[in-house]
Amino acid sequence: MTELLKKIIGRKSVRTFDGNPVRPEDRERLSQYVGTITNPFSIPVRFVFLDTGENHLSSPVLSGETFYVVGIVPKVPYADVAFGYAFEKLVLYAWSLGIGTTWIGGTMKRELFEQAAKLSEGEMMPCISPLGYPAKKHSIRESLMRKGVGADSRMPAEKLFFDGAWDTPLPPEKQAPVKDLIEMVRWAPSAVNKQPWRIIVADQGFHFYEKRDRGYIGEKTGDLQKIDVGIALCHFAMGLEEQGIKPDIAIADPELPVPDGVEYIATIRNQ
Ligand SMILES: Cc1cc2nc3c(=O)[nH]c(=O)nc-3n(C[C@H](O)[C@H](O)[C@H](O)COP(=O)(O)O)c2cc1C
Repeated sequence: MTELLKKIIGRKSVRTFDGNPVRPEDRERLSQYVGTITNPFSIPVRFVFLDTGENHLSSPVLSGETFYVVGIVPKVPYADVAFGYAFEKLVLYAWSLGIGTTWIGGTMKRELFEQAAKLSEGEMMPCISPLGYPAKKHSIRESLMRKGVGADSRMPAEKLFFDGAWDTPLPPEKQAPVKDLIEMVRWAPSAVNKQPWRIIVADQGFHFYEKRDRGYIGEKTGDLQKIDVGIALCHFAMGLEEQGIKPDIAIADPELPVPDGVEYIATIRNQ
């Protein structure tokens, strides 16, 4: 297993923290790192770090957290996809420092975070995350939540990756050369673990689509499931980079027939 795949499969949402402040050297690393994050859509995503106590911030699903990161993006087309891509880079980097995160788009007092982060007109704050050191044991609430959404499992590749046409599963011999990349996409986090990404492999391109469920679009969050697809794109692109291949990501709809409720997002080519 590659280092990146190990990191992706090893990362889990952390909702129970040990209560310790994030060490100054880790804060420094995190704030340096966010300065290096880019996304393929050239939409600026800014990150604001906030202390829990000073700002009276909390989330009903978390305990023991002392620090948060808030992500902010201008309200423009593709903001949600770009946001997912960029914020996930930070999530994976934090994990490599031993710092736990949880993507939170719903379970928080949103207004308090927006005020503390000084959200301006024309911007949105789709999600936040706690940052901290995981506690040794999950809270009961966290264990129940993980069970409720089946957080430790994912759909099989055959339900997500298609061969040339919607709903034609990618056969094992075509999965084999990109097995690690498929696993990186499968193990991405998503809102309520819905895994709304679908990929049609055609004309040497990986065409990413969103298969929409009801109830994930809000004025304040954008489309949470487009964020999920941004996360999946990020994993796939990082997987290619790990192999020394520069990912070419473009919005170039191949106009393949897809059912209602399925929307084309972007294409990745590996040369
Ligand atoms: C866009 C997005 C929004 C999410 N919102 C919440 C949330 O509001 N509250 C929460 O407890 N978890 C939230 N999650 C975390 C998911 O429930 C979690 O990623 C999923 O169940 C898979 O578990 P894992 O991250 O441990 O692999 C969100 C995840 C994503 C990607």
